[in-house]
Amino acid sequence: MCGIAGYIGKKEAQNFLLDALKRLEYRGYDSAGVAVLSDDAILKCIKSVGKICVLEEKLNSNNLSGKSGIAHTRWATHGFPSEKNAHPHGDCKEEIFVVHNGIIENYKKLKEDLEKSGHKFCSETDTEVISHLIESHFKGNLEEAVLNSLVHIKGAYAIAVIAKYDPAKIVVAKKSSPLIIGIGVGENFIASDASAVIGYTDQIVYLEDDELGIITADDYHIISTISNNCVQREHCKIKQDASEIQKEGYEHFIFKEIFEGPEVVKNSFRGRIVDGEGLVKLGGLDVLNQDQIRNINRIIIIACGTANYAGRVGEYMLEEYAGIPVEVEIASEFRYRKPIIDAQTVVIAISQSGETADTLASVQEAKRKGALVLGIVNTVGSTIARETHAGVYNHAGPEISVASTKAFISQIVVLSLLTVYLGRTRDMSFVIGKRITDEIKKLPDLMTRVLKSSNEVEKLAKKYSNYRNFFFLGRKYNYPIACEGALKLKEVASLIHAEGYAGGEMKHGPIAMIDKNFPCFFIAPSDSVYEKMWSNIEEVKARDGKVIAIATEGNEDIKSLADDVIYIPKTLEMLTPLLTAIPLHLFAAYVGIELGLDIDKPRNLAKSVTVE
Ligand code: F6R
Repeated sequence: MCGIAGYIGKKEAQNFLLDALKRLEYRGYDSAGVAVLSDDAILKCIKSVGKICVLEEKLNSNNLSGKSGIAHTRWATHGFPSEKNAHPHGDCKEEIFVVHNGIIENYKKLKEDLEKSGHKFCSETDTEVISHLIESHFKGNLEEAVLNSLVHIKGAYAIAVIAKYDPAKIVVAKKSSPLIIGIGVGENFIASDASAVIGYTDQIVYLEDDELGIITADDYHIISTISNNCVQREHCKIKQDASEIQKEGYEHFIFKEIFEGPEVVKNSFRGRIVDGEGLVKLGGLDVLNQDQIRNINRIIIIACGTANYAGRVGEYMLEEYAGIPVEVEIASEFRYRKPIIDAQTVVIAISQSGETADTLASVQEAKRKGALVLGIVNTVGSTIARETHAGVYNHAGPEISVASTKAFISQIVVLSLLTVYLGRTRDMSFVIGKRITDEIKKLPDLMTRVLKSSNEVEKLAKKYSNYRNFFFLGRKYNYPIACEGALKLKEVASLIHAEGYAGGEMKHGPIAMIDKNFPCFFIAPSDSVYEKMWSNIEEVKARDGKVIAIATEGNEDIKSLADDVIYIPKTLEMLTPLLTAIPLHLFAAYVGIELGLDIDKPRNLAKSVTVE
């Protein structure tokens, strides 16, 4: 996630660019920058670390005058958040500048080749190779140089490029990352999404994959980077106002974030699965050598709340497929007891914010005791990301809604990748590694199918919102999902009490509470524990309890027992949590709406818990 913007016209470019960056700040805010071309063809660039307000202050004292320019707000993927890693990135002579959203997968090789031919790099980013590639192809025509450069690039990109010696245009190109052109009168705009141009124009054009755009003040042209033919594209009229579109059309961030799930999963595994080999690459763990991985004798996962439940799914995956004993600890407990840790223990901290005080203190305690401490963190450059010895970023993008949904999904994806990463260095076979990674790649489509049943979940929320107590029951991989479903309902629909239980534990006490006023969610996909779940459903029905089942498509039998059924498609047992969590997240949000609550900011909560 990064945000890019561009302006070419008759006004001062800086004004639009700053405004656009503020609107795109949700896409990342660890550094930002602007490059503007002045009327006398001087190309100047200003960058800063931190939020857009820091860049704004810098621009107030270093005004960049000029009628065309590009800008960027960064969510770091390659290289620490710093001024030198901030975009725009220049070529050797700083006569060409590029802003980029995406990941260039083959940047290491390109960088080596460019360095051999004399190019000097000044950042650790993947993006800088694009500026130098364009420099190496530039013969006076910017679009030609960009076209010839794109041939060499593998990966995802939305780019905007500006050049001193072809000043009357901005060139843009896109593959897998979003980019729009805003059409004005005597001026044109470029942005990652339409939120940035609202109020400047209501006419936009979406650039499609493998297209290049040449934008001037009065016109624009789109050409296919595959056929080099011109592409005609209808303008779209944007209807939303600025405040709405920041939620990209959703009324609440929580819905936007739940519906982002398929994209989040793609971002979490992009560039990490080695196709056809059943292998996973996790660049952030390169510090571990193969012997260290083989010698791990125990993993302790530390996390709080939702992140802890993701950890529990990870526990089952890592034990079943990587053959490593795992314990999952609540961070606030771990930090105050006497954990037994030795040099072969690996501690993994999971945190969306990277700032949770209890998790951070546990990281420090584990380091003190000599453990190798890894992080699974969403927020780049956060304290936990910096404190851990090594780690894996989630790439879920900023999560705004206080209740964590998309970060939870991406934490489970990263744990499944970690399972293959560790397992394949130990005794996991090629066949199992391939089966898991092939299935991970199918998840975005499967999740989209589940999201299509959101209307049915909404109807269920209306039907059940008057009940005040719920049980959520699951076994094995879906026991943590039962806990997550209950936590989310308690949190988002904060007038309701809910408990998550292991299906088999119900009969040891809680079943005493069951009557017709106590609905139970049974998470019962067709997996190795399905028969056992069936028996637990029978037990509840025998006591007049209401049953809402989450079952696998094609399971018609369950309708004879459950009052309501939500279906998910079939996938590997270990990945079912990624599908079963979706209706539970949606249910909590829809019930919250029914109860008239502020579902993005539930009472008594904060997004990152930086106190004990
Ligand atoms: C629940 C929720 C919290 C967080 C917990 C840990 O929806 O959001 O339970 O999961 O506070 O936060 P992070 O992941 O930021 O460490």
